[in-house]
Amino acid sequence: MTDLINCSAQYYLNAIDLAKNDLAAVELYILYLLPDIYSFPKRLPAANFNLVFMDLLNELNLDKIFIQKINDECLIKANIQLDVLRLDKIHPVVSGNKWFKLKYYLQQAAEDNCTCIATFGGAFSNHIIAVAYACAAKKIQCIGYIRGERPATFSPTLSDAKALNMRLIFLSRSEYLNRKKSIQNDQSTFYVPEGGYGKNGVKGASEILNFVPDIPGYNYIVCAVGTGTMLAGIVNASSTHQNIIGISVLKNNFSVENEVLALVNDKAKNQTKILHDYHFGGYAKYAQQLIEFMNKTWKAYALPLDFVYTAKAFYAIFDLLKNDFFIAGSKILFVHSGGLQGNRSLKEETLLF
Ligand SMILES: Cc1ncc(COP(=O)(O)O)c(C=O)c1O
Repeated sequence: MTDLINCSAQYYLNAIDLAKNDLAAVELYILYLLPDIYSFPKRLPAANFNLVFMDLLNELNLDKIFIQKINDECLIKANIQLDVLRLDKIHPVVSGNKWFKLKYYLQQAAEDNCTCIATFGGAFSNHIIAVAYACAAKKIQCIGYIRGERPATFSPTLSDAKALNMRLIFLSRSEYLNRKKSIQNDQSTFYVPEGGYGKNGVKGASEILNFVPDIPGYNYIVCAVGTGTMLAGIVNASSTHQNIIGISVLKNNFSVENEVLALVNDKAKNQTKILHDYHFGGYAKYAQQLIEFMNKTWKAYALPLDFVYTAKAFYAIFDLLKNDFFIAGSKILFVHSGGLQGNRSLKEETLLF
């Protein structure tokens, strides 16, 4: 790989040299390079993941992650400090927890020299669009298996995934489950599990807390839960004095408890709780009360939330606060896991941001 880069760099240097005398020769050089450029992803040697996905890495603003302090009377009254880890600032598409959950899968795909990445998700899935974006950035083919019938009108997420060249395959719920069960990586196709669930996803998610300056100072960490991958990563990276609270955004998804446990290193930690009362009707469902809360949060703290995940989890914190769930004197960290692109499926003017 280094050779290929050096060799390409040499061509460019030669081309620049030639440019001084002959513009036509430069064009010829570039034409000569085109096959190299286009076959590039197909012959990626193993250990060069950072080079392979360098373009994407360069686009990510990991340095923009920051801690936002929430000032609110009810917090002061309860003697609670609430801070938000703004992972949504990383990137408009590969935002929030996405890069963390995907990075080791992408690395494995590069190591296996795969030319196609396939994955699974619903019509509003942030995971689907993030995979589509990562693959488009490196011109790797990609397939999205979408749960449910092909809709007459595509959601903005699906339209964008398609525009990014993801091949969309719609499957009925039973076909979808069977397809998920029967996947096997082969020479050319690498399958990323739905939502990044699995060892690679957890390994990446466990790096989220590296972006928090005083992590031992928090005795609660709260985040939204879909597959539970992010929560498991956070549990693995946390200390025993910390309570990790996951807010499930799916209705009655009680199996997620065992799915999280399967990914947690130290099962004895016993400081994890998943709450199931804040789904607002189920995945991607919402009520006017949630929209009003999102607008209020925006007006009060300039904090944008998404209606599928983060709004439900942030709402839960304030509801739990009312019910004295948190011990006075606590310091809570809320992980803003991104997903703002999903708000585009709401009618215009629903939200103030
Ligand atoms: C914005 C956002 N927050 C939270 C989650 C939940 O993450 P997990 O599936 O790891 O529980 C997701 C899903 O990936 C998401 O897109």
